[in-house]
Amino acid sequence: MAQKATNITWHEGHVSREDRFKQLKQKGATIWMTGLSGSGKSTIAFTAEHKLVEQGKLAYCLDGDNIRHGLNSNLGFSPADRTENIRRIGEVAKLFADTGVITFTSFISPYRADRDLCRKIHEEAGLPFIEVYVDVQLETCEERDPKGLYKKARAGEIPEFTGISAPYEEPHKPELVIKNEGKDPNASADEVIAYLKSRSLLD
Ligand code: ADX
Repeated sequence: MAQKATNITWHEGHVSREDRFKQLKQKGATIWMTGLSGSGKSTIAFTAEHKLVEQGKLAYCLDGDNIRHGLNSNLGFSPADRTENIRRIGEVAKLFADTGVITFTSFISPYRADRDLCRKIHEEAGLPFIEVYVDVQLETCEERDPKGLYKKARAGEIPEFTGISAPYEEPHKPELVIKNEGKDPNASADEVIAYLKSRSLLD
């Protein structure tokens, strides 16, 4: 997005990222969970967050439904609003990761271009961006329907509902695919944590 303000100057801090990472004994990174509503993104992310904190690591989950209560309370579900939702979270996650936090984001983030922008934001900042596709068939999400939203969407009560009347673009090359059907969320969270270990992010 084009910068609107003029006459602004970047002010470099005195503490390096490496100093912060050393202090926390971990490396900041963003783990970007994407997938349909009801696929289990948030359950996996919150479970992984909990496990990591129990191991003495600093982790935090930015969750779509929660963030839409605050920072993004002025956004709906039109394509433009979803793009802005994801752009803001990409920027916030980058800041969290820069502080050294193992940052999970749990957003449908249905558009490939929006996720790619978040990847670019991280790459330009030299921070790891790990895209995790929580792969669950639409039919399964619809059967689970934990919030009763698919039923409402089928009844025409929710316009632009992802998977029903709005698109979901699967990632082409995610770092990780979690097949989250008939599986304990603990096992899925462990898969994510094992991947973080394999990237040496937890020490
Ligand atoms: S995103 O598409 O912009 O990434 P986000 O993850 O923030 O979506 O929010 C999705 C959550 O909002 C869903 O899990 C669901 O609970 C709720 N929701 C309400 N309306 C819609 C809709 N039209 N499409 C998808 N999710 C919706």
